[in-house]
Amino acid sequence: MTLKTLSAVSGMAIVASTAALAEPQAEVLHYWTSGGEAKSVAVLQEEFAAGGGTWTDMPVAGGGGDAAGTALRARVLAGNAPTAAQIKGPAIQEWFEEGVLADISAVAEAQNWAEVLPEAIAAHMQCDGTWCAAPVNVHRVDWIWANAEVLAANGLEMPTTWDEFNAAAETLLAAGIIPLAHGGQAWQDATVFEAVALGILGAEGFRKAFVELDMDTLTSEEMVAVFDQMRTMRGFVDSNFSGRDWNLATAMVMNGEAAFQIMGDWAKGEFIAAGKVPGEDFLCLSTPGEGFLYNVDSFAMFEVDGQDKQDGQALLAELVVGESFQEVFNLNKGSIPVRTDVSLDNFDSCAALSSADMAASNESGSLLPSYAHGMALRGAQAGAITDTVTAHFNSDMSSADAVQMLADAIANSL
Ligand code: BGC
Repeated sequence: MTLKTLSAVSGMAIVASTAALAEPQAEVLHYWTSGGEAKSVAVLQEEFAAGGGTWTDMPVAGGGGDAAGTALRARVLAGNAPTAAQIKGPAIQEWFEEGVLADISAVAEAQNWAEVLPEAIAAHMQCDGTWCAAPVNVHRVDWIWANAEVLAANGLEMPTTWDEFNAAAETLLAAGIIPLAHGGQAWQDATVFEAVALGILGAEGFRKAFVELDMDTLTSEEMVAVFDQMRTMRGFVDSNFSGRDWNLATAMVMNGEAAFQIMGDWAKGEFIAAGKVPGEDFLCLSTPGEGFLYNVDSFAMFEVDGQDKQDGQALLAELVVGESFQEVFNLNKGSIPVRTDVSLDNFDSCAALSSADMAASNESGSLLPSYAHGMALRGAQAGAITDTVTAHFNSDMSSADAVQMLADAIANSL
């Protein structure tokens, strides 16, 4: 039996047994371990239990999911894949090519995912004509978060250009406040870098550099300017930034130790979990420049034996794209629903801004996949960029040398 026929057969079995109400099981590997993230994943665990399922939690701490990715690879190589794992972007295709993903087309078709999901997002969830992952949300990456009181006390507004950001940061430094809460972990460096790059290169330049890997753009004067801005920002972080977790950086903004954080809207999940109110306690604005960097979390299911596990996969897939989960989960997570038919009435002003900007960017062609969060490139190329960004941020490397290193690293990764 070919892999494809196998998947088709197991897909049919999933549907048949869901109807027979077997006891679904799922061991779920994920990296949602911060305050806001844990509250969010608890929603899924509750819905799974309410659907008659037994959830075995396999959380792997580590923002951005690098550690979870390593743990997943070890499990699959050992022939002991979890039933489901939080995987996204091109990594879904990479796992599919290894022949280890289960086909969830039966659920996707029964629930009409093709109709309720935006086309670009649906494309990430499809492998060779079948559905191979279930999308959870749309996170935006290019955000600045700020402590409202700190800004007001220093006569500052949210910056709308990088020059304004730099000027505000200088004012804060003079007032003894850390301008930028940052955690020195490679994925956080990459998160700040891609927001700066979007602002300086523009949407088309970003696409050329980080989606198409166009060498002219990667080695352009504008890319030198991106690294210049990163060097400037290195002066705005405190001396204890190395290794700090992203949610601890968010806490620094919450308690007024720092003014700003550049981070995806999972940071909003932390503010909300701590009872903070957007527009009052904290402010959100997209980072300077046009465009929208999206980051869609999703679950892929692995080929596993056992009807109970296959039923668990079907139940999980059905729940995550379900309307009720889409609303409650995303209220906690800081993201917006991935379905186009879920009302945003109960969502806050940051979510409303995200949704409006996403629609406008989609129209203008500036809706772009996040490279730093694994949506734009395969692992080797994304890793090559991030290695350069981190090496530059943590040394006195010149911008020109960083651009050269970037070009070499990309060329070697292809
Ligand atoms: C994920 C988010 C997660 C964040 C921090 C991102 O890559 O998409 O779901 O909250 O990393 O771990």
